[in-house]
Amino acid sequence: MNFTLQVWRQKDARSAGRFVKYRATDIGPDMSFLEMLDVVNERLVEQGIDPIAFDHDCREGICGMCGIVINGRPHGPRPRTTTCQLHMRFFGDEDTLVLEPWRARAFPVVKDLVVDRGAFDRIVAAGGFITAPTGSAPDANAIPVPKEDADLAMDAAACIGCGACVAACPNASATLFVAAKVAHLAHLPQGQPERWDRVLAMTAQADAEGFGGCTNHGECEAACPKAIGVHFIGEMNADWLRARFRRGRRAARAGDGAAG
Ligand code: SF4
Ligand code: FES
Repeated sequence: MNFTLQVWRQKDARSAGRFVKYRATDIGPDMSFLEMLDVVNERLVEQGIDPIAFDHDCREGICGMCGIVINGRPHGPRPRTTTCQLHMRFFGDEDTLVLEPWRARAFPVVKDLVVDRGAFDRIVAAGGFITAPTGSAPDANAIPVPKEDADLAMDAAACIGCGACVAACPNASATLFVAAKVAHLAHLPQGQPERWDRVLAMTAQADAEGFGGCTNHGECEAACPKAIGVHFIGEMNADWLRARFRRGRRAARAGDGAAG
């Protein structure tokens, strides 16, 4: 198969970027999208041209490192598919493919198609943890968890932190990602001690990182390769409200104590 690529090339966050045209020829239909880029890069290196920078690690759809906007869609045209799991047979011979990085203020371009997703790490560091001692694995397994809660926790934990939800959102909102991380722990007994502080801290950190607000477009769910549902956003918003009331009550009690 042969393709024409229009690739976003950008030296670093401070430089202006531009699209550059390349040909990808003799590409096997069973190659993944990243393998196709490997072939293109080998040829660029042979010609003494700087290869196209793109992120990847596991190439199995589990690490969340890969992510390219392909023809305007984060991770490309296949639903529930990461860029590394996308195969060239899903495109037509002689197609033109436009490759761009995630575009969001909170994800500055590092180079070409690589963006800095450190903002996600800082959101997780703000509250995506538990401090309850869980003991060894057999102890943890002895804590009863209702099946429905376990299933919901596992669904939320499927989030690989790729950032496609942000790239798809017209507001560049990280709300689906944050909701998945909040819900994952909110559905487990071990996540209860920090439940209310967690939702406030993680949403505040998302705001501080410069992600936009959620206005219920639902593009995030459509782009998510792990089928994280927007119902988790509803759950998170409900927890956020309860957390605010609890914090207000705590502040009022502390005020009473000071007055007394
Ligand atoms: S919610 Fe989906 S799209 Fe967003 S970071 Fe997690 S896996 Fe990626
Ligand atoms: S490289 Fe790990 S999910 Fe794509």
